[in-house]
Amino acid sequence: MSERCAVQVMHVTGARPNFPKAAPVIRALGSRGIQQQLVHTGQHYDEQMSEVFFRQLGLPAPDVNLAVGSGSHAIQTGEIMTRMERLILASRPRLLVVYGDVNSTLAATLVAAKLAVPVAHVEAGLRSFNRAMPEEINRLVTDRLSDLLFATSPEALVHLGNEGITAEKIFFVGNPMIDTLLANLHLLEPAAVRQQLGLPGRYAVATLHRPANVDDPDDAAKLVKVMHDVADQIIVVVPLHPRGRDRLRAAGFFRHPQIRVVEPMGYIEFLGLVRGAHVVVTDSGGVQEETTILGVPCLTLRPETERPVTITHGTNRLVTHEGLAAAIREVLSAEKASCLPVPPLWDGRAGERIADVVAQFLGDPGSAAGGQPVGAPRPAPWSESVASSS
Ligand code: UD1
Ligand code: UDP
Repeated sequence: MSERCAVQVMHVTGARPNFPKAAPVIRALGSRGIQQQLVHTGQHYDEQMSEVFFRQLGLPAPDVNLAVGSGSHAIQTGEIMTRMERLILASRPRLLVVYGDVNSTLAATLVAAKLAVPVAHVEAGLRSFNRAMPEEINRLVTDRLSDLLFATSPEALVHLGNEGITAEKIFFVGNPMIDTLLANLHLLEPAAVRQQLGLPGRYAVATLHRPANVDDPDDAAKLVKVMHDVADQIIVVVPLHPRGRDRLRAAGFFRHPQIRVVEPMGYIEFLGLVRGAHVVVTDSGGVQEETTILGVPCLTLRPETERPVTITHGTNRLVTHEGLAAAIREVLSAEKASCLPVPPLWDGRAGERIADVVAQFLGDPGSAAGGQPVGAPRPAPWSESVASSS
């Protein structure tokens, strides 16, 4: 991606949800001729957690893979920081772009901030207000240190404003993960995946990987019990994240005849499966957003969500463990919801909007806004964008 010229933009990815967020941004910057470098930290490394996304989403091969692998939070974050520092010093990018709320996001941001490299955060301002979630810590620190904050939903703007971040840094751009979903919609074929997995017409999909659900053996046992209650009502396909695999197996998860545990799936196959599902049970952030656009009922097994727009404008509903089986019964007997409103700016053009702002930041004379320096008044700061989209 970046052999001869100086790097203008360095993207840092590392975990599964980063890849669908980065793809449209990289594409849009590429079409503006901006010199980019793609870094993979190696936080996720299994073929089905990483490489498959590069193939299916048309992402360029990473220029650098830091190969950090797994570890405790401190070890993983520290390893990424050490390796990122060397890389940033060697490449001296003009802007670092980070995605979402994973450890790779936080670690790269900390290093760039200390080396005075400006940081752009894609998916800024989401808040669960639950600091027991490692992602919440990552979000708070990343946003505080970022110079460009790209928000995916209106409530994010409120949170950033409440935290004292100046409006000039914040851009309401829509959701690049939804850009990727819409760009691939024509490839999502429920019938093909159903046939491949030998599923009947009616099935549920579940994805479960939050530490609060799967890390502690007691929590895992509780989860298994309520998921078995779900499976008493409907076949449940579970592309299981490696995080909880051993603990869920030990708690007897795989034993129910209507639970079908499979390996993590490629993006196209997974969303084909989700598109044809009667209901999804999840604790994933991205899946709450994707089911909103696909119109598939989503039951989120968490006490709160940092993505409330998926409830107000989508199919998402928070459920407790105790309430899950009843919620499934309700969904299975309900009419299919029709004509839900789409969250503002989830229109497939977020990557383009981000690229416009980045080009302007870099002083690209060809960019829509004509290369004003950061901090100067620009078209479409967040307040105007929100007003015009609601
Ligand atoms: C990370 C993110 C989480 C995100 C999730 C997406 C952090 C703090 N958490 O959680 O926000 O929702 O990714 O999937 O960054 N493992 C493998 N193969 C892999 C990757 C991981 O076997 O390719 C196993 C390892 O045992 C590892 C465990 O999964 O210890 C957890 O991986 P890690 O990246 O630390 O956190 P996630 O739970 O994946
Ligand atoms: N996903 C996938 N295959 C799977 C499970 C999820 O392609 O087996 C995709 C999903 O569609 C979304 C992303 O992975 O695009 C979300 O990742 P994850 O749930 O791991 O992370 P989170 O969004 O919770 O941070």
